[in-house]
Amino acid sequence: MSPNTNSKAGPKPRAAIEAMDPYRPPSSGREDKLRLDFNENTVGCSPRVVKRLGKVAAQDLTVYPAYEEVFEQLAGYFGVRADQMALTNGTDEAIQLVVNTYVGEKDRVIVLRPSYAMYRFYAQVAGARVIEIDYAADLRFPHEALLRAARSGAKAIFIANPNNPTGTLASPEELREILEAAPNAAVLIDEAYFEFCGRTVLPWINRFPNLFVSRTFSKAFGLAALRVGCLFSDAANIAVIRKGQSPYSVNALGVACALEAIRDPGYVKKYAAEVIRARVMLCQELQCLGWKYFPSAANFVLVQFGSASGAVLRMLRDAGILVRDRGYEVPGCVRITVGTIAQTRRLISALRSISRADVDGRVSQTVTPTPKVLPKRVKAGALR
Ligand SMILES: Cc1ncc(COP(=O)(O)O)c(C=O)c1O
Repeated sequence: MSPNTNSKAGPKPRAAIEAMDPYRPPSSGREDKLRLDFNENTVGCSPRVVKRLGKVAAQDLTVYPAYEEVFEQLAGYFGVRADQMALTNGTDEAIQLVVNTYVGEKDRVIVLRPSYAMYRFYAQVAGARVIEIDYAADLRFPHEALLRAARSGAKAIFIANPNNPTGTLASPEELREILEAAPNAAVLIDEAYFEFCGRTVLPWINRFPNLFVSRTFSKAFGLAALRVGCLFSDAANIAVIRKGQSPYSVNALGVACALEAIRDPGYVKKYAAEVIRARVMLCQELQCLGWKYFPSAANFVLVQFGSASGAVLRMLRDAGILVRDRGYEVPGCVRITVGTIAQTRRLISALRSISRADVDGRVSQTVTPTPKVLPKRVKAGALR
Protein backbone atom coordinates (compact mmCIF):
# COMPACT_ATOMS: atom_id res chain seq x y z
CA MET A 1 0.00 0.00 0.00
CA SER A 2 1.33 3.47 -0.80
CA PRO A 3 1.77 5.89 2.11
CA ASN A 4 -1.17 8.12 2.83
CA THR A 5 -0.43 11.51 1.32
CA ASN A 6 -3.83 13.02 1.89
CA SER A 7 -3.19 15.61 4.62
CA LYS A 8 -6.90 15.66 5.53
CA ALA A 9 -6.97 11.95 6.35
CA GLY A 10 -6.07 10.44 9.72
CA PRO A 11 -7.19 11.24 13.25
CA LYS A 12 -8.09 14.81 14.06
CA PRO A 13 -6.38 16.15 17.19
CA ARG A 14 -8.45 17.75 19.94
CA ALA A 15 -8.85 21.50 19.45
CA ALA A 16 -6.91 22.18 22.67
CA ILE A 17 -3.84 20.40 21.28
CA GLU A 18 -4.15 21.98 17.84
CA ALA A 19 -4.10 25.42 19.43
CA MET A 20 -0.78 24.77 21.20
CA ASP A 21 2.73 25.58 19.98
CA PRO A 22 5.10 22.62 19.73
CA TYR A 23 7.59 22.32 22.56
CA ARG A 24 11.28 21.83 21.79
CA PRO A 25 13.36 21.58 24.97
CA PRO A 26 16.26 24.03 24.60
CA SER A 27 18.61 21.60 26.28
CA SER A 28 21.14 20.45 23.69
CA GLY A 29 24.76 21.63 23.37
CA ARG A 30 25.15 22.23 27.10
CA GLU A 31 28.10 19.85 27.62
CA ASP A 32 31.42 21.29 28.81
CA LYS A 33 29.81 24.58 29.78
CA LEU A 34 29.16 26.07 33.19
CA ARG A 35 25.40 25.36 33.14
CA LEU A 36 23.71 28.15 35.06
CA ASP A 37 20.61 28.02 32.89
CA PHE A 38 18.24 25.33 34.26
CA ASN A 39 18.48 25.68 38.05
CA GLU A 40 20.02 22.24 38.30
CA ASN A 41 22.56 21.10 40.87
CA THR A 42 25.83 22.34 39.34
CA VAL A 43 28.16 19.69 40.78
CA GLY A 44 26.14 16.47 40.63
CA CYS A 45 24.38 14.18 43.05
CA SER A 46 25.84 12.43 46.08
CA PRO A 47 28.63 9.96 45.15
CA ARG A 48 26.65 7.33 47.09
CA VAL A 49 23.83 7.74 44.56
CA VAL A 50 26.19 7.24 41.61
CA LYS A 51 27.49 4.03 43.20
CA ARG A 52 23.98 2.75 43.81
CA LEU A 53 22.96 3.58 40.25
CA GLY A 54 25.78 1.39 38.91
CA LYS A 55 24.71 -1.53 41.11
CA VAL A 56 21.02 -1.31 40.19
CA ALA A 57 21.80 -0.94 36.51
CA ALA A 58 23.99 -4.06 36.67
CA GLN A 59 21.40 -6.23 38.44
CA ASP A 60 17.78 -5.31 38.33
CA LEU A 61 16.74 -4.12 34.88
CA THR A 62 14.60 -7.14 34.06
CA VAL A 63 11.92 -6.46 36.67
CA TYR A 64 9.25 -3.80 36.98
CA PRO A 65 9.89 -1.32 39.78
CA ALA A 66 8.55 -2.18 43.24
CA TYR A 67 7.40 0.83 45.23
CA GLU A 68 6.28 -0.39 48.70
CA GLU A 69 9.59 0.11 50.50
CA VAL A 70 10.11 3.37 48.63
CA PHE A 71 6.85 4.83 49.84
CA GLU A 72 7.58 3.97 53.47
CA GLN A 73 11.08 5.43 53.35
CA LEU A 74 10.24 8.57 51.39
CA ALA A 75 7.20 9.24 53.57
CA GLY A 76 9.43 8.95 56.63
CA TYR A 77 11.94 11.38 55.13
CA PHE A 78 9.27 13.97 54.30
CA GLY A 79 7.42 13.49 57.60
CA VAL A 80 4.11 12.32 56.08
CA ARG A 81 2.23 9.02 56.00
CA ALA A 82 2.72 6.75 52.96
CA ASP A 83 -0.94 7.19 52.02
CA GLN A 84 -0.43 10.96 51.86
CA MET A 85 2.02 10.83 48.95
CA ALA A 86 2.28 9.82 45.30
CA LEU A 87 5.62 9.10 43.67
CA THR A 88 5.76 11.01 40.37
CA ASN A 89 7.84 11.27 37.22
CA GLY A 90 9.21 14.63 38.29
CA THR A 91 7.06 17.54 39.39
CA ASP A 92 5.76 17.63 35.85
CA GLU A 93 3.78 14.44 36.38
CA ALA A 94 2.50 15.79 39.71
CA ILE A 95 1.11 18.84 37.89
CA GLN A 96 -0.34 16.64 35.16
CA LEU A 97 -2.02 14.37 37.72
CA VAL A 98 -3.64 17.30 39.49
CA VAL A 99 -4.96 18.62 36.17
CA ASN A 100 -6.10 15.17 34.96
CA THR A 101 -7.90 14.48 38.22
CA TYR A 102 -9.66 17.80 38.81
CA VAL A 103 -9.77 19.86 35.61
CA GLY A 104 -12.08 19.36 32.64
CA GLU A 105 -12.50 21.23 29.39
CA LYS A 106 -13.39 24.93 29.87
CA ASP A 107 -12.82 24.75 33.64
CA ARG A 108 -10.97 27.67 35.21
CA VAL A 109 -7.34 27.14 36.19
CA ILE A 110 -5.41 29.96 37.88
CA VAL A 111 -1.69 30.40 37.28
CA LEU A 112 0.69 33.26 37.99
CA ARG A 113 2.81 35.06 35.42
CA PRO A 114 5.73 34.81 35.14
CA SER A 115 5.94 31.37 36.67
CA TYR A 116 6.82 27.78 35.86
CA ALA A 117 5.23 27.24 32.46
CA MET A 118 4.16 23.61 32.89
CA TYR A 119 1.10 24.65 34.93
CA ARG A 120 -0.24 26.50 31.93
CA PHE A 121 0.97 23.75 29.58
CA TYR A 122 -1.05 20.93 31.22
CA ALA A 123 -4.07 23.18 31.74
CA GLN A 124 -3.96 23.98 28.01
CA VAL A 125 -3.69 20.29 27.13
CA ALA A 126 -6.86 19.73 29.16
CA GLY A 127 -8.62 22.52 27.25
CA ALA A 128 -9.09 24.52 30.45
CA ARG A 129 -9.64 28.28 30.67
CA VAL A 130 -6.34 29.58 31.96
CA ILE A 131 -6.60 32.67 34.16
CA GLU A 132 -3.22 34.37 34.43
CA ILE A 133 -2.46 36.69 37.33
CA ASP A 134 0.53 38.96 36.76
CA TYR A 135 3.21 39.56 39.35
CA ALA A 136 3.46 43.24 40.29
CA ALA A 137 5.95 45.46 38.44
CA ASP A 138 8.50 44.93 41.23
CA LEU A 139 7.73 41.17 41.00
CA ARG A 140 6.06 41.05 44.43
CA PHE A 141 3.61 38.17 44.93
CA PRO A 142 0.25 39.47 43.58
CA HIS A 143 -1.67 38.39 46.65
CA GLU A 144 -4.78 40.58 46.36
CA ALA A 145 -5.32 39.84 42.66
CA LEU A 146 -4.82 36.13 43.24
CA LEU A 147 -7.27 36.16 46.17
CA ARG A 148 -9.90 37.87 44.01
CA ALA A 149 -9.44 35.31 41.25
CA ALA A 150 -9.51 32.43 43.75
CA ARG A 151 -12.80 33.72 45.19
CA SER A 152 -14.31 33.81 41.70
CA GLY A 153 -13.86 30.04 41.49
CA ALA A 154 -11.38 27.66 39.87
CA LYS A 155 -10.78 23.95 39.68
CA ALA A 156 -7.05 24.32 40.27
CA ILE A 157 -4.56 26.98 41.39
CA PHE A 158 -0.80 26.59 40.85
CA ILE A 159 1.75 28.48 42.92
CA ALA A 160 5.50 27.92 42.85
CA ASN A 161 7.05 28.85 46.20
CA PRO A 162 9.73 30.11 45.74
CA ASN A 163 8.62 31.12 42.27
CA ASN A 164 10.56 30.48 39.07
CA PRO A 165 11.88 32.77 37.54
CA THR A 166 11.37 35.54 40.11
CA GLY A 167 12.81 33.70 43.13
CA THR A 168 10.18 35.34 45.32
CA LEU A 169 8.36 33.72 48.24
CA ALA A 170 4.72 34.06 49.24
CA SER A 171 4.29 34.25 53.01
CA PRO A 172 2.53 31.46 54.95
CA GLU A 173 -0.24 33.98 55.75
CA GLU A 174 -0.79 34.74 52.04
CA LEU A 175 -0.91 31.04 51.19
CA ARG A 176 -3.32 30.32 54.03
CA GLU A 177 -5.70 33.03 52.76
CA ILE A 178 -5.67 31.56 49.27
CA LEU A 179 -6.36 28.06 50.58
CA GLU A 180 -9.28 29.44 52.58
CA ALA A 181 -10.59 31.48 49.63
CA ALA A 182 -10.80 28.45 47.32
CA PRO A 183 -11.97 25.47 49.41
CA ASN A 184 -13.15 23.56 46.34
CA ALA A 185 -10.07 24.10 44.19
CA ALA A 186 -7.01 21.86 44.11
CA VAL A 187 -4.28 24.28 45.25
CA LEU A 188 -0.79 23.03 44.36
CA ILE A 189 2.12 24.67 46.16
CA ASP A 190 5.18 23.63 44.16
CA GLU A 191 8.20 23.52 46.46
CA ALA A 192 10.80 22.49 43.88
CA TYR A 193 13.35 24.85 45.49
CA PHE A 194 12.51 24.04 49.13
CA GLU A 195 16.06 22.98 50.04
CA PHE A 196 17.35 26.50 49.25
CA CYS A 197 14.81 28.36 51.39
CA GLY A 198 13.62 25.97 54.10
CA ARG A 199 10.06 27.33 54.00
CA THR A 200 7.30 24.73 53.55
CA VAL A 201 3.57 24.25 53.97
CA LEU A 202 3.85 20.46 53.78
CA PRO A 203 2.52 19.85 57.33
CA TRP A 204 -0.64 21.76 56.31
CA ILE A 205 -1.87 18.77 54.28
CA ASN A 206 -3.30 17.61 57.63
CA ARG A 207 -5.33 20.85 57.92
CA PHE A 208 -6.40 21.84 54.40
CA PRO A 209 -8.21 19.20 52.30
CA ASN A 210 -7.66 21.34 49.16
CA LEU A 211 -3.86 21.56 49.55
CA PHE A 212 -1.35 19.68 47.38
CA VAL A 213 2.41 20.09 47.80
CA SER A 214 5.07 18.90 45.36
CA ARG A 215 8.78 18.29 45.86
CA THR A 216 11.42 17.15 43.39
CA PHE A 217 14.74 15.33 43.22
CA SER A 218 15.65 17.40 40.14
CA LYS A 219 17.13 20.47 41.82
CA ALA A 220 19.14 20.32 45.07
CA PHE A 221 19.43 16.50 44.93
CA GLY A 222 20.96 16.68 41.44
CA LEU A 223 18.82 13.97 39.81
CA ALA A 224 16.99 15.89 37.05
CA ALA A 225 17.87 13.24 34.47
CA LEU A 226 16.08 10.53 36.44
CA ARG A 227 12.73 12.34 36.76
CA VAL A 228 11.60 11.70 40.34
CA GLY A 229 9.22 13.83 42.35
CA CYS A 230 6.57 13.51 45.05
CA LEU A 231 3.06 14.84 45.39
CA PHE A 232 1.55 15.17 48.86
CA SER A 233 -2.01 15.76 50.01
CA ASP A 234 -4.77 14.49 52.23
CA ALA A 235 -4.96 10.65 51.97
CA ALA A 236 -8.40 10.76 50.31
CA ASN A 237 -7.07 13.06 47.54
CA ILE A 238 -4.00 10.91 47.01
CA ALA A 239 -6.14 7.78 46.69
CA VAL A 240 -8.07 9.48 43.86
CA ILE A 241 -4.92 10.87 42.24
CA ARG A 242 -3.31 7.43 42.20
CA LYS A 243 -6.34 5.94 40.45
CA GLY A 244 -5.51 7.94 37.35
CA GLN A 245 -1.75 7.40 37.46
CA SER A 246 0.22 5.07 35.24
CA PRO A 247 1.31 2.17 37.52
CA TYR A 248 5.04 2.36 36.67
CA SER A 249 5.58 6.02 35.88
CA VAL A 250 8.79 6.28 37.92
CA ASN A 251 11.50 3.90 36.76
CA ALA A 252 13.51 1.60 39.02
CA LEU A 253 16.77 3.53 38.62
CA GLY A 254 15.06 6.75 39.68
CA VAL A 255 13.47 5.06 42.65
CA ALA A 256 16.73 3.46 43.83
CA CYS A 257 18.63 6.73 43.45
CA ALA A 258 15.99 8.79 45.27
CA LEU A 259 16.19 6.36 48.18
CA GLU A 260 19.97 6.50 48.26
CA ALA A 261 19.84 10.31 48.07
CA ILE A 262 17.70 10.61 51.20
CA ARG A 263 20.14 8.31 53.02
CA ASP A 264 22.80 10.98 52.47
CA PRO A 265 20.96 14.12 53.61
CA GLY A 266 24.21 15.80 54.64
CA TYR A 267 25.29 16.01 51.00
CA VAL A 268 22.26 18.05 49.94
CA LYS A 269 22.35 20.21 53.07
CA LYS A 270 26.00 21.06 52.46
CA TYR A 271 25.37 21.86 48.79
CA ALA A 272 22.33 24.03 49.55
CA ALA A 273 24.25 25.90 52.27
CA GLU A 274 27.06 26.67 49.81
CA VAL A 275 24.58 27.83 47.16
CA ILE A 276 22.96 30.18 49.69
CA ARG A 277 26.38 31.69 50.51
CA ALA A 278 27.15 31.98 46.80
CA ARG A 279 23.78 33.68 46.23
CA VAL A 280 24.65 36.36 48.79
CA MET A 281 28.05 36.82 47.14
CA LEU A 282 26.50 37.13 43.68
CA CYS A 283 23.86 39.62 44.81
CA GLN A 284 26.48 41.79 46.53
CA GLU A 285 28.52 41.79 43.34
CA LEU A 286 25.50 42.61 41.15
CA GLN A 287 24.81 45.55 43.42
CA CYS A 288 28.41 46.77 43.13
CA LEU A 289 28.26 46.44 39.35
CA GLY A 290 25.00 48.39 39.23
CA TRP A 291 22.79 45.64 37.83
CA LYS A 292 19.30 45.45 39.28
CA TYR A 293 18.33 42.01 40.60
CA PHE A 294 15.32 40.56 42.38
CA PRO A 295 16.01 39.09 45.85
CA SER A 296 15.67 35.31 45.61
CA ALA A 297 14.92 32.45 47.99
CA ALA A 298 15.94 29.82 45.41
CA ASN A 299 19.12 28.66 43.64
CA PHE A 300 18.84 31.33 40.97
CA VAL A 301 18.66 35.10 40.67
CA LEU A 302 16.71 37.09 38.10
CA VAL A 303 18.82 40.01 36.90
CA GLN A 304 17.61 42.98 34.88
CA PHE A 305 20.28 43.75 32.31
CA GLY A 306 17.80 45.84 30.33
CA SER A 307 18.85 46.58 26.77
CA ALA A 308 22.26 45.05 27.53
CA SER A 309 20.79 41.58 28.11
CA GLY A 310 21.52 40.31 24.57
CA ALA A 311 25.16 41.36 24.83
CA VAL A 312 25.47 39.90 28.34
CA LEU A 313 24.04 36.55 27.19
CA ARG A 314 26.44 36.46 24.25
CA MET A 315 29.48 37.43 26.25
CA LEU A 316 28.75 34.92 28.98
CA ARG A 317 28.24 32.21 26.35
CA ASP A 318 31.61 33.13 24.85
CA ALA A 319 33.08 32.69 28.32
CA GLY A 320 31.55 29.18 28.47
CA ILE A 321 28.76 30.15 30.88
CA LEU A 322 25.12 29.40 30.08
CA VAL A 323 22.37 31.48 31.68
CA ARG A 324 18.69 31.75 30.76
CA ASP A 325 17.14 34.60 28.84
CA ARG A 326 13.72 35.36 30.39
CA GLY A 327 13.20 38.51 28.37
CA TYR A 328 10.14 36.98 26.65
CA GLU A 329 8.23 37.31 29.92
CA VAL A 330 10.15 39.87 32.02
CA PRO A 331 11.69 42.30 29.54
CA GLY A 332 15.47 42.67 29.77
CA CYS A 333 15.78 39.94 32.39
CA VAL A 334 18.14 36.99 32.57
CA ARG A 335 17.89 34.17 35.11
CA ILE A 336 21.18 32.98 36.54
CA THR A 337 21.40 29.68 38.43
CA VAL A 338 23.61 29.88 41.50
CA GLY A 339 26.16 27.11 41.92
CA THR A 340 29.16 26.71 44.20
CA ILE A 341 31.36 29.53 45.50
CA ALA A 342 34.07 28.67 42.95
CA GLN A 343 31.58 28.65 40.07
CA THR A 344 30.12 31.94 41.26
CA ARG A 345 33.61 33.48 41.36
CA ARG A 346 34.04 32.45 37.72
CA LEU A 347 30.66 33.97 36.85
CA ILE A 348 31.48 37.18 38.73
CA SER A 349 34.77 37.55 36.95
CA ALA A 350 32.98 37.21 33.60
CA LEU A 351 30.34 39.72 34.70
CA ARG A 352 33.05 42.16 35.77
CA SER A 353 34.68 42.05 32.38
CA ILE A 354 31.31 42.50 30.69
CA SER A 355 30.54 45.43 32.88
CA ARG A 356 33.76 47.09 31.90
CA ALA A 357 33.19 46.27 28.25
CA ASP A 358 31.20 48.59 26.10
CA VAL A 359 27.90 46.70 26.22
CA ASP A 360 24.97 48.11 24.40
CA GLY A 361 23.04 50.51 26.65
CA ARG A 362 25.06 49.95 29.83
CA VAL A 363 22.54 50.28 32.66
CA SER A 364 24.54 51.11 35.79
CA GLN A 365 22.17 52.76 38.28
CA THR A 366 19.70 53.67 35.59
CA VAL A 367 17.42 50.65 35.44
CA THR A 368 13.75 51.50 35.23
CA PRO A 369 11.16 49.30 37.01
CA THR A 370 10.28 46.12 35.17
CA PRO A 371 7.80 46.97 32.44
CA LYS A 372 4.59 44.98 32.81
CA VAL A 373 4.41 44.06 29.15
CA LEU A 374 4.23 40.30 29.12
CA PRO A 375 3.33 38.29 26.06
CA LYS A 376 0.15 36.21 26.17
CA ARG A 377 1.62 33.00 24.80
CA VAL A 378 4.55 31.05 26.14
CA LYS A 379 7.07 30.71 23.33
CA ALA A 380 7.84 27.21 22.15
CA GLY A 381 10.99 26.00 23.87
CA ALA A 382 10.58 28.37 26.80
CA LEU A 383 9.01 26.11 29.37
CA ARG A 384 11.71 25.64 31.99
C1 LIG B 1 8.86 25.75 40.01
C2 LIG B 1 9.33 24.50 39.32
N1 LIG B 1 8.69 23.36 39.53
C3 LIG B 1 9.09 22.22 38.93
C4 LIG B 1 10.16 22.20 38.07
C5 LIG B 1 10.57 20.93 37.36
O1 LIG B 1 10.62 19.90 38.22
P1 LIG B 1 10.80 18.40 37.74
O2 LIG B 1 12.13 18.28 37.11
O3 LIG B 1 10.67 17.70 39.05
O4 LIG B 1 9.68 18.04 36.80
C6 LIG B 1 10.85 23.36 37.81
C7 LIG B 1 11.97 23.34 36.85
O5 LIG B 1 12.52 24.24 36.40
C8 LIG B 1 10.42 24.54 38.45
O6 LIG B 1 11.06 25.69 38.23
